[in-house]
Amino acid sequence: MKNNNSISNFKDAPSKSKKILTTSALPYVNGLQHLGHLAGNNLPTDLYSRFLRQKGYEVLSVCGADMHGAAIEIGAEKEGLSVLDYSEKYFKKIISVYKKFNISYDIFSKTSIKENFELTQEIAKRLLENGFLVEKTIEMFFSKVDNRFLMDRLIEGVCPFCDFSNARGDQCDKCGELLTPQELKNPFSKISGDKNLELKKTRHLFLQLGKLKPKLEEWLANKRWDNTTAGIVKKWMKVELKDRCITRDLEWGVPVPFPNFENKVFYVWFDAPIAYLAMTKKLCLDRNIDPNEWIKDNNSTMWTQFMGKDNIVFHSIIFPAILLGADQNWKLVDTIKGLNFLNFEGEKFSKSNNVGIYLEDAIKLYQSDMLRYYLIINSPETADFNFKVELFKDTINKDLNNTLGNFVSRVTKFTAKYFDDNVPVPCQFTQEDVSFFDNIQSILDDYHRNMFSLNIKKSAENVRSLWIQGNKFITDNEPWKIVKNDRERTATILFICFQLIDLFRRTMKPLIPDTADKLSKMTPDLKLDDVIPDRFDLAVLPKGEKFSIIDNLFEKLE
Ligand code: 2FM
Ligand code: ZN
Repeated sequence: MKNNNSISNFKDAPSKSKKILTTSALPYVNGLQHLGHLAGNNLPTDLYSRFLRQKGYEVLSVCGADMHGAAIEIGAEKEGLSVLDYSEKYFKKIISVYKKFNISYDIFSKTSIKENFELTQEIAKRLLENGFLVEKTIEMFFSKVDNRFLMDRLIEGVCPFCDFSNARGDQCDKCGELLTPQELKNPFSKISGDKNLELKKTRHLFLQLGKLKPKLEEWLANKRWDNTTAGIVKKWMKVELKDRCITRDLEWGVPVPFPNFENKVFYVWFDAPIAYLAMTKKLCLDRNIDPNEWIKDNNSTMWTQFMGKDNIVFHSIIFPAILLGADQNWKLVDTIKGLNFLNFEGEKFSKSNNVGIYLEDAIKLYQSDMLRYYLIINSPETADFNFKVELFKDTINKDLNNTLGNFVSRVTKFTAKYFDDNVPVPCQFTQEDVSFFDNIQSILDDYHRNMFSLNIKKSAENVRSLWIQGNKFITDNEPWKIVKNDRERTATILFICFQLIDLFRRTMKPLIPDTADKLSKMTPDLKLDDVIPDRFDLAVLPKGEKFSIIDNLFEKLE
């Protein structure tokens, strides 16, 4: 074979000595997760983490529930549950459904763990000592009907930038601008609809982002973000960075550990990202590893964060500024993978309007691998993706049933018929075989390149190309036509097909792990590892090895 790529030749491949930390944006526990969450957050994290594990890297993949925030208090009130019972209920649901989708986090924790309370308070103390927090008395909207201060997300009104009539007090979902409630025109309470909001004085702590700008600039200088992230960062750094309020008049959350702030908690977006570090610390402690190797910056860890595009600014500017301001040598993000949104039959996923499919329901209808496959090969990477059930079914039938499933069943059934249940013994490879191996190798190289560079869609297309090539190989060689008079050549063709099935198994595992596991049962006496090889190896499945027929890998979708 001509190609001689090794890992170090792939752009973006981390050095083998690096520890890899991957995180997904932490889902709020205020309801069920839908396919959009999976496509834009958990699946890309899982694909990449699994791939790197199978390449032999030391990986920790971390996620957990975002337990705090006013939305959770409101949700609990609506369901008539205590905040604790409510958040616990959805925490359990999220964890159980992620399991069904084979999301392989090393830990799925909560922002309410003691490690996060401690770390959040410690970081806030350091920010105060270092002069990056300032106390201000501000006026906030208070609703007499709701008997509470209403913060950002609990107020809606008309966006001052694009006139969207239901912009939230923290951000406009239409134009994406970050807002303050006071900027909204005609504000009203999202809880009760109360329009008679009253401005009242209250004391809060503010993060002085402007003062942190020089530190941020220095840190950002050697970052190579993707275009989406780079664009957002550039836009933010161009304007004056305003002070941001990091405390709230609530009971539910991480208490503010300063005098005169006894009845206040930190804003959910302050404690939630810190929880990435706290959860990683907890995981390390559970496993008896030194957490500082992972959460302090010692050049040994590479941190890739996955999230929806609306979360990018918090992860690329605000959270890094918090860690830089604390000045305790915290590990900061290296790569951000921001994803677009998934729409459903042309509309935005929306709980309130009943648009979309919840994960719990989807998994009752379809095999997990079918949804994983479709959502990864159509990853909303560069643009939003519109999930259409009919197209989903067509893709599954075409790619998984007709291309992958048929190849495996054709090869195993045909071989069983003419060569008993043993992997056939090959003879000499032809010149055509050798060019075919080159072709497979170049797809495998592309697959590596795309995986390392986080080209999610393309990496899945590479996996599919391997299946297509397998089918083409067997169709071009027509073993069924020569089996009677050229047994040796037939054996060679089938032997190659078995090696392909093994390569499929390894490369598909990050994408469709259940199917890969089914394929690993093909040779019952042989315990094979899941390593993804740099090179297409023709001697993995030994000749003569006993195998079983693999049929009906997938259900046909009608
Ligand atoms: O948008 C969300 O669902 C937030 N809960 C994401 C938080 S990510 C992190 F920083 F904690
Ligand atoms: Zn707007």
